[in-house]
Amino acid sequence: MPANRIVPLVAREGLRGPYWLLTFRHPEIARDARAGQFVMIKAGTSAEPPLRRPFSIMATDPGAETFTLFVKEVGPGSRALGRLAPGEVAQCLGPLGRPFSTPPAGTEALLVAGGYGVAPFRLFAEELKRSGGRGRLFYGGRTSDDLPLLEHLGGTSTPLVPATEDGSVGHHGQVTAPLEEWLDSGAGPARLYACGPEAMLHAVARVAEARGLAAEVSLDPWMGCGIGTCLGCVVKVQNTDETRASYRCACTEGPVFDAARVRWPGEEVSRARRERAGFMA
Ligand SMILES: Cc1cc2nc3c(=O)[nH]c(=O)nc-3n(C[C@H](O)[C@H](O)[C@H](O)COP(=O)(O)OP(=O)(O)OC[C@H]3O[C@@H](n4cnc5c(N)ncnc54)[C@H](O)[C@@H]3O)c2cc1C
Ligand code: FES
Repeated sequence: MPANRIVPLVAREGLRGPYWLLTFRHPEIARDARAGQFVMIKAGTSAEPPLRRPFSIMATDPGAETFTLFVKEVGPGSRALGRLAPGEVAQCLGPLGRPFSTPPAGTEALLVAGGYGVAPFRLFAEELKRSGGRGRLFYGGRTSDDLPLLEHLGGTSTPLVPATEDGSVGHHGQVTAPLEEWLDSGAGPARLYACGPEAMLHAVARVAEARGLAAEVSLDPWMGCGIGTCLGCVVKVQNTDETRASYRCACTEGPVFDAARVRWPGEEVSRARRERAGFMA
């Protein structure tokens, strides 16, 4: 059982709409977190319900011993986090889960984000900057209100390509449209990384399959414990032996999975896809 860490809130910033940037202090989380990992966190120190909730680690500052979460208020757990004042504490487990892989040398990391799924890509962009890797972030939502982090994603070497379905900011249409345009424009070797709503993840998986590209998706099931004991987070994943699928805990074996191995709702898995699956050991 990972340690229950008591983390003081050191800064909070309200963004437009129901969004918060919350910065907590914890030296190990700030030092160890990798893009795609998450914490299970809840406001206060009580052991009583509600359960801790999963949130991606959006940014870290090892020097200041802090990590930042991007929180959308949707219910009691996220609302209680948004009500914390600096100096008050939360309790959390983490960093948890399997991070995104590092793109192979010479490969461009194409990051595709929808809604709060943008959170891990701020840290991913930092990692690319540190390693000298190349990346491009496609950030989509229905309207500009769904892109509250636009102004906070600068300062890295990763260009940002916004897209909205109503055309209020960036490309007019779904976020996969500028992604496909970029791939069609003669971009070199690429690996796709996606985090966001399931329909978007599935669309990215189809783009990757059609073009023979490797893709990793961060899945977003309900999570009760974050450490592999409640089985609330199981997802169906294709085995590499071609015939069977099995259930995996997204909290310990994910949340990041090889997109070619995910059993998307209502989808048959093609033989070609089964053969290509398995690039993530
Ligand atoms: C690995 C992972 C990383 C995440 N990272 C972030 C993040 O960076 N920022 C962020 O704002 N949120 C993130 N989430 C989602 C976040 O965990 C949920 O929004 C949160 O648990 C809601 O808790 P609550 O008590 O506020 O609301 P609840 O009362 O638990 O839920 C309120 C409503 O939201 C729905 N809901 C709750 N969780 C999910 C979910 N995972 N998918 C779809 N619907 C859901 C419920 O069905 C309900 O209708 C992440 C989830 C996962 C699994
Ligand atoms: S959240 Fe409990 S097993 Fe994954």
